[in-house]
Amino acid sequence: MELTVNSVSCTVQSPPLTSLLNVLREELDITSPKAGCESGGCGACTVLVDGQPRRSCLTALCTVDGAAVVTVEGLGTPEDLSRVQQAFIHHYAAQCGFCSDGMVVAATAYVNAGGSDDTDAIREALAGHFCRCTGYVKILEAVAAAARGDELDIDSTASSANNTYVTIAGAES
Ligand code: FES
Ligand code: FES
Repeated sequence: MELTVNSVSCTVQSPPLTSLLNVLREELDITSPKAGCESGGCGACTVLVDGQPRRSCLTALCTVDGAAVVTVEGLGTPEDLSRVQQAFIHHYAAQCGFCSDGMVVAATAYVNAGGSDDTDAIREALAGHFCRCTGYVKILEAVAAAARGDELDIDSTASSANNTYVTIAGAES
């Protein structure tokens, strides 16, 4: 079967009912989609399929033959991060990072569709994405910033007022 993954055409050999998650991780060695619950309940495996967020753990390869798949690896590069990626860094929206790739992909779909910085709308767009670290506040702030198109200077993030860790570390020293 044929896929275009992060703008690269691929012929994949996995059996037709293999989950897209396993194709990406095991055959193509693309590891940003995470195997969390593997039953559609956590969002960690979310990728874009023809521009729409999909749970790759529930997506059989044969249902996406010929599709364009985008993972976090296709959103930006370390030197040229996407707007959503920059916002997640600036607002410290990732801690362990396990949920972050799925969150960033879903947030990207939301922002690309013209989503606003309304908190309730962002919550709805990220419904079903679970994070065990952040408490969600910083994730919501990051997506709102990306939706507004805030100017972000991530080089100065370490000295940002949003940097709780630095604030705490400073108070302790
Ligand atoms: S691993 Fe796919 S939704 Fe949890
Ligand atoms: S940052 Fe750890 S699960 Fe979300």
